[in-house]
Amino acid sequence: MGAQIMTDWDEFISTVQKQEIEKAREIYSETVVQHAIFPRDPGSMENPDGYARVTGPCGDTMEIFIRVLNGKISKANFLTDGCTTSIAAASMAVEMATDKKVEDARCISKEDILEALDGLPEESRHCALLASNTLRAAVADYLKMAKEPWKKFYQPASHR
Ligand code: FES
Repeated sequence: MGAQIMTDWDEFISTVQKQEIEKAREIYSETVVQHAIFPRDPGSMENPDGYARVTGPCGDTMEIFIRVLNGKISKANFLTDGCTTSIAAASMAVEMATDKKVEDARCISKEDILEALDGLPEESRHCALLASNTLRAAVADYLKMAKEPWKKFYQPASHR
């Protein structure tokens, strides 16, 4: 009996999710939908080499953590309390930054993210700006900490 209820509930949830995804496909590109459903590298990072937390004009906040090896971003993670498109934009930003030289990652712009996402509706374009601003700030933090590396060990990333 319990197993049947679980199966019905799972089916119900799965149907609702499928309906939501189909609705999203009417508004967003398939790339946006895929990054929103399966975001690349969400989560935080212990002792990142660079970190930023930025709040956009919409009030949503994004965090990006980067690990740098030999001048390249070897790993990047993000967190956001923002909308679905902010998840897709942050996911694309960390994907684009990974394996790039720090200077090149710093140049990833709102337009680059929008292009990689195959566009966003006008009212969601600021989500890509939040992602590029947060990535740039994380790289700037890395460059600042690279000059004074000892600070990393007594300044938690969240306090920088
Ligand atoms: Fe705030 Fe998308 S609406 S980041």
